[in-house]
Amino acid sequence: MNFFIKNCKLDKEKTDCIVVPVFDLCELSHSACYLDKCSNGYITSLIKLGDIQGKIGDTLILYKVPKIFSKRILLVGCGKKDEINKVRFKKIFKNTINILKKLSIKNIIYSFSELNINNIYWMTRVAVLSIKEFLYKVMKINNTNVDNINIDYIILDISKKHDLFIAKIALKHALAIDYAITSAKNLSNLPPNICNPLYLSSKAKELAEKYKNNIVVEVIDIKKMKELGMNAYVAVGDGAKNKPFMSVIKYSGNNIINNKTIAFVGKGLTFDSGGISIKPSFNMHEMKYDMCGAAAVYGILIMAAELNLPLKIIGILSGCENMPGGYAFRPGDVLTTMSGKTVEILNTDAEGRLVLCDSLTYLERFSPNVVIDIATLTGACVTALGESVSGLFSNNQELANQLLHASEETDDKIWSLPLFEEYQKKIISNIADFSNVGQGQAGAITAACFLSKFTEKYNWAHLDIAGTAWKSGKNGGSTGRPVELLCQFLLNQSNYIYS
Ligand code: BES
Ligand code: MN
Ligand code: ZN
Repeated sequence: MNFFIKNCKLDKEKTDCIVVPVFDLCELSHSACYLDKCSNGYITSLIKLGDIQGKIGDTLILYKVPKIFSKRILLVGCGKKDEINKVRFKKIFKNTINILKKLSIKNIIYSFSELNINNIYWMTRVAVLSIKEFLYKVMKINNTNVDNINIDYIILDISKKHDLFIAKIALKHALAIDYAITSAKNLSNLPPNICNPLYLSSKAKELAEKYKNNIVVEVIDIKKMKELGMNAYVAVGDGAKNKPFMSVIKYSGNNIINNKTIAFVGKGLTFDSGGISIKPSFNMHEMKYDMCGAAAVYGILIMAAELNLPLKIIGILSGCENMPGGYAFRPGDVLTTMSGKTVEILNTDAEGRLVLCDSLTYLERFSPNVVIDIATLTGACVTALGESVSGLFSNNQELANQLLHASEETDDKIWSLPLFEEYQKKIISNIADFSNVGQGQAGAITAACFLSKFTEKYNWAHLDIAGTAWKSGKNGGSTGRPVELLCQFLLNQSNYIYS
């Protein structure tokens, strides 16, 4: 399915359907008004019958409208014109897609450019990303995947010619971001017997193949990890037959604007059984999603390469499997991490921070200016913030502000939590430098405090996506979050600002 940006002569376009907004109290949008005039008031005459009010959720299909070359017009209720925001805009698109899916339609014009969500850049971007989101389907593991839709192309009608340039940039960005989100979702939705740490590393290597000029990949296997002293990472992988692999993806754009390196680390537990501190069996299968952080990193590197962002980026996929067994690490063990700091294991299910601490120390060799880790780290974060907001932790307020700004722009919500001294004390151990579990409450914060001990050499932020990375249940699956937020962060770093 393709998207086009065009300044349309709406009555003369020969498509299967033109979609136009109608506002509350039957107020016609400019495009609806234009079609109404061309058809000698046909639309107003139908609206007078009272079948559509213009509220969000209202829709009405018109066939064979006089003097209009397209086969159908779909009127879509958009509510009050001055109350439209991104959330409502997305809902409006969901309604149209649900209708269009059921009809035999091959091409569509959306004439929505007068809907004011900031500007034409955001109108276009949100439109494309919403359509893509509502058409996404989880891939079945049985070779019967059929295309979800029979739509060949969608034209976004831009009513003002001088907006065409920005709209085309927005489309380009949206397609790259969608590719990133879809790639992250597809990877995360795979079962853990297919998507294991080795598989993650093979996906990383594919990127080096595909983006030869800009991406180099190095894979650190267990032997190399041991040489490097990554004993915490290795310990987590010890119980599993599927050995750990850490993939280091190095991206460099063609016209880099500065020599700063931005690094991302994704928790890539392709399955987290809890290890010897084994998890209850209820919903344990969902721990295949414990690699969503790594999948997000994989996604954002795809976006960077697709748009050839003028940046230097390093993405680490910390692939590992946490299993019980005769070779597994134990509660009570004391591990010496790559940093030299020692950790007493109180619970083998607090494994994410162990894999991450060595990955974060490994990153020091690249002298990164900024490091962001993304992890389904704690159930406590879900208790604190629920399922629609990710946790943000940082040792640098400017970096935190940049992430909060990107979050607001994309509506991919995050919220700051503190790293006060009072919490830092909770991870002190009497036998080692730290324990891997914090005493008492505030588990999301004590986990972040643990990571903060390994990130003192650079500006660092941590996103706990335990609540937001996937939706439970039969119709659930990976959400692709926080890919859009991080893509926006990178676009802002590249000085591509259109808002
Ligand atoms: N991957 C889990 C966190 C998690 C749990 C994410 C549920 C999403 C839903 C993590 O490895 C874990 O098990 N954390 C423990 C830490 C505890 C043992 C200190 C947790 O949150 O219970
Ligand atoms: Mn765990
Ligand atoms: Zn985990």
